[in-house]
Amino acid sequence: MTDPRRAHFDPRQLAAELRDGSEVADHAFDRLYPVPLRTMSRVHWTPLAVARRVVELLAPVAGERMLDVGAGVGKVCLVGALRSPAAWSGLELRPALIRAAEQAARALGVADRTSFFQTDMATFDWGGYDGVYLYNPFGEYLMPAAATSLREVGPLAGEYSHAARVAQHRRLVTATEEKAWSLRPGARVVTFHGFGGAWPPCLELVQREKISTDVLEVWVRVDAAPRPPRDPGVDPLAEPLRGA
Ligand SMILES: C[S@@+](CC[C@H](N)C(=O)[O-])C[C@H]1O[C@@H](n2cnc3c(N)ncnc32)[C@H](O)[C@@H]1O
Repeated sequence: MTDPRRAHFDPRQLAAELRDGSEVADHAFDRLYPVPLRTMSRVHWTPLAVARRVVELLAPVAGERMLDVGAGVGKVCLVGALRSPAAWSGLELRPALIRAAEQAARALGVADRTSFFQTDMATFDWGGYDGVYLYNPFGEYLMPAAATSLREVGPLAGEYSHAARVAQHRRLVTATEEKAWSLRPGARVVTFHGFGGAWPPCLELVQREKISTDVLEVWVRVDAAPRPPRDPGVDPLAEPLRGA
């Protein structure tokens, strides 16, 4: 019997299967990417079953804009563009991952509704977005620099001491909490494995469900008490990061 992993790979066929809701294995999807990025999939990229559910929970309609903060190889944006009429953007520091996401978008025929920005998320405005997704984007800053396989595609804060990495984690978590205030009322936020912080009162938890290795949480931007003044001791834009 032919090993399905060696069979002819047709990205357009893959796109059609994802569009019509057929079961697609993660290893089949990951063939869109260069081999070193495939091997990181199980740990670092959202599994397809979770990505499909994220798209359902964000429930994007035509004309809306969705954002994946720390988009990796763009898996959620790509699945989102295939399974909804919305436009999907991904923010990612590492250039190699941006290139892989853009190449996969072209192969799947969704380059017109996906865009990937190489930027530190702390500098990016969420204001124009109707939905946001986060898969524990800053978890690696709390690990020793050598302990994450993502280091192979760029060190990120890898050259810094443990204390500096923890400070970067705090900066990014604080920036993320602040970004929630810039969303319009009604905008949705979905997290998988959280983001390392606690949302301010302008986001309300409306759903929580177990899936794969963790839970998905759905938060909605509500009209809340006015935003409290920023802690002057924490500047989330200080020391922006660059991908390697
Ligand atoms: C756990 S992966 C999730 C990837 C993708 N969201 C997914 O679900 O498949 C987290 C990603 O966040 C990126 N990242 C970490 N810090 C970032 C920052 N400050 N700005 C933009 N991206 C960042 C990392 O490079 C990594 O690719």
